[in-house]
Amino acid sequence: MQIFGVDIGGSGIKGAPVDLDRGDLTEERFKVLTPHPATPDGVADGVKEVVGHFGWTGPVGITFPGVVTGGSTIRTAANVDKSWVDKDARALFSERLDGLPVTVLNDADAAGVAEMRFGAGRDRGGTVLVLTFGTGIGSALFVDGVLVPNTELGHLELNGHDAEKRASTKAKEDQQLTWEHWARRVQKYLAHVEMLFSPELYIIGGGVSRKAAKFLPHIEGIRAEIVPAQLQNNAGIVGAAMSAAKGE
Ligand code: BGC
Repeated sequence: MQIFGVDIGGSGIKGAPVDLDRGDLTEERFKVLTPHPATPDGVADGVKEVVGHFGWTGPVGITFPGVVTGGSTIRTAANVDKSWVDKDARALFSERLDGLPVTVLNDADAAGVAEMRFGAGRDRGGTVLVLTFGTGIGSALFVDGVLVPNTELGHLELNGHDAEKRASTKAKEDQQLTWEHWARRVQKYLAHVEMLFSPELYIIGGGVSRKAAKFLPHIEGIRAEIVPAQLQNNAGIVGAAMSAAKGE
C-alpha cells in the first residue's frame, strides 16, 4: 500500500509517496523552501506544491513542528508563525488539497513511529526516546513500542534556558559551536532527560544522525544506549504516511 507523506520542517517542506510495507519512499522526494514567516497560508501553499508535483490524489499524512491534538488541531508553534495556534490544520490542508483526506501529527512523533517500525527501534521494548535535533529538539516517547504523543521534551529547562535554544543543531550553527562543544550540551541534555525517564535507548534523529561519528564519541556518562536514527531525513515522511494509513 502507498500513502503520501509530507514533512514540514523549519527550512523545507518535503514529501514523497511511501511504500508502507517497506517503509521507504517510492520516488525521490520533492522539497520546497518553508516560507518565512511560516504562516498557515504560506505553508499550505508549499504542501500543495509538493503533493501536486507527484499528481497525488490519495490520502496524505503531514507532520507539523508543534503539538497536534486529534490528528488535526495545532496547539503550539515554537518555530513557526504563532497564528498556527488553535488552527484546524487538517481542514486547512485538506481544503488546499482539493478535499484529499489528511492526517496531521507532530514531526518528532512521526519520525519516532517510523524509526520504531523500520529503523533503529525495531523490536525494541521498554522505554525508548527518539530525539530529533534540527531547528528545535523534538521528542517521541515509546513504552513497549506504544507512542506517548506530544511529549515536547525539547522545551525542558536546562541551566535556566529552553533546552532546544542551547542544544538544537540550529543553536550549534547560530552560536558557531564545534562538534565537541555542542556534544557537551547534548550530553547534559541527555543526562537530564535520563534523570527524568530512565530510557533504555536513545535514538538520535534529524539531519545530524548522518554525522553521528562527529559527536557521539564525545558523549559520555549516559546509562542508556545511544544510537543514530536509521531512516535519517526520511523518517518524518514515512511516519506521516504510516499515521495517515491508520486514519488517525
Ligand atoms: C516543537 C516540537 C517539535 C520540535 C522539532 C519544538 O520546538 O515544540 O513540537 O517536535 O521543535 O521540530
